[in-house]
Amino acid sequence: MIPESFIQELRFHVDMEQLVSSYVRLQRRGRVSVGLCPFHNEKTPSFTVYPDNQSFYCFGCGAGGDAITFVRRAENLDYPEAVRFLADRAGLRVPDEEGDDEGARMKLRVLECNRAAARFYYDTLVSPAGARGLQYLRARALSDAVIRRFGLGYAPAGWNALTDRLHALGFTEEEMLAARVAAPSKKDGRAYDLFRDRVIFPIIDLRGGVIGFGGRVLEGDGPKYLNSPDTPVFKKSRNLFALNRAKASKQEGLLLAEGYMDVLALHQAGFDNAVATLGTSLTAEQTQLISRYAREVTIAYDSDGAGQKATRRAIGLFEQAGVRVRVLKMEGAKDPDEYIKKFGAGRFKLLLQSCANATEFEIGRLRQSYDLETADGKVAFLNEFAVLMASIRNPIERDVYVKKTAAELAVSPEAVLQMVASNLKKRRGGEARKQQRDLHMYVGAGARGKQNPERERNLKYALAEERLIAMLLQNPDYYSHIAAQIGPEQFVTALNREIFSRLCERLRAGRSIELFSLSGVLNDEEMSLVSGLLAASPSARHSREEADDCIQVLKSHENEKSSGEVAAMDEEQLKRYFQKIVSAKK
Ligand code: GTP
Ligand code: MN
Repeated sequence: MIPESFIQELRFHVDMEQLVSSYVRLQRRGRVSVGLCPFHNEKTPSFTVYPDNQSFYCFGCGAGGDAITFVRRAENLDYPEAVRFLADRAGLRVPDEEGDDEGARMKLRVLECNRAAARFYYDTLVSPAGARGLQYLRARALSDAVIRRFGLGYAPAGWNALTDRLHALGFTEEEMLAARVAAPSKKDGRAYDLFRDRVIFPIIDLRGGVIGFGGRVLEGDGPKYLNSPDTPVFKKSRNLFALNRAKASKQEGLLLAEGYMDVLALHQAGFDNAVATLGTSLTAEQTQLISRYAREVTIAYDSDGAGQKATRRAIGLFEQAGVRVRVLKMEGAKDPDEYIKKFGAGRFKLLLQSCANATEFEIGRLRQSYDLETADGKVAFLNEFAVLMASIRNPIERDVYVKKTAAELAVSPEAVLQMVASNLKKRRGGEARKQQRDLHMYVGAGARGKQNPERERNLKYALAEERLIAMLLQNPDYYSHIAAQIGPEQFVTALNREIFSRLCERLRAGRSIELFSLSGVLNDEEMSLVSGLLAASPSARHSREEADDCIQVLKSHENEKSSGEVAAMDEEQLKRYFQKIVSAKK
């Protein structure tokens, strides 16, 4: 257990705005700062930081909490690890560190084990035992400089070359297995090398830790590529090969390729902003990660059908993450590695300069899927084309594509523009409805309703509960006044009951219920709800009578027969209704 006194001390060393700024570009708006939420995809900022009470809350997805909650989510850490992370940043030492967190210790050992393995693979590659591997990499035209820079390696053919070395370095079998550089044998459970007779590509995260490996066969049997399975330190869906190097590149945007070899060939040719996924298809987590480092991505997937299909999917994901997309069109080679080998870096650079944006790619694809020689084909194409055009926000850009395409198809641009206009109208209707929904969310029903499934059905009581909780958080000195009249068991919705009961427990024991000391007590969902409540009523001083009103509402639950009427009210009626109960007694 981390002592509470330390958490209190840490609190004074953490500045929420500064912390969040390392992840999100924040803009000051009055007393708060806003930015794009790092926990869900959005285009307009609804992620809000409250310097007053050092909390955050996202009006879009309902995530909220204090600095510890934030780090836990952003860095995917558990509670003690998040505390340690913040302590490190603040230059503090967490007391009682030894042995209190087996999980964190294991992660550390896994990272050390990976680093030792990477070292071993590299040393082997450049030793006589690795001649086969080195010959292979050189045959694929990789320079010694790139081999060294990326720490490429060779895993020898035996069953225990790596495990023997790791043993000698003091790693236990348990640690090797946890790092997944070894697998347990079916016969006796002993660890044997996972990668054998393969060239090795270490995967390095943004903090410089070796988190996993990719290994390619030289020839012969087995899957062409083998990747480390996910481990406590490695999630394929959240990392990208070479992002650690690409993020420091001076070139505009990022280049996204399919494979390790493409990335290496690209870096060697001077395109040091290239990254690749790790043997899986692109994920929303990855596009979000990319959006932190680049506003534009050029997709350089393989030119085959699978690559083009993956490109379309990627375009959609990047759009959601707010990243502009351009698509490289390679002819005469299957992937960037092959293209550069065949035509040279200069030609590739020209290709990059001339490459199509996402809209051009999509138009090209549409054109290919219809027979434009026939009238029917033209009409069907234009229908889809008009939908695509309506999704473009910039009217000048729309105009350019429409005129160009109309000319190419020998149809009148006015007719096409009319089709686009009617699609735009449909779309605007949809957007207006969406805005309405967002507004609704802002009032609280959306995000909080997601967290508290009983909220909608018991809105009147849930609102009273929420106010009571918010009041208690802001005026802990009301505790005895409130506790004398109502207990958690009289709460109607389970989530609020749980939160209220935890708060009372702490207050009864004379402990703090500041947000910062709650993240060890409440779970993510509860933290989000509590932060949302504070966000809705920042630093308001409430009267005891207000608390009494809420208590009355909750007490009336027992005699209340139908809450149907209340449930049927819309947001506006409800607000008025609630104000009425609250002010009735004043
Ligand atoms: P080279 O043949 O070495 O040039 O590889 P490539 O990068 O051109 O290969 P390919 O286009 O076949 O694959 C692209 C990426 O998909 C690779 O870099 C791997 O990350 C992944 N991949 C390919 N084959 C396999 C496989 O058999 N298993 C897994 N898990 N991933 C693979
Ligand atoms: Mn290739």
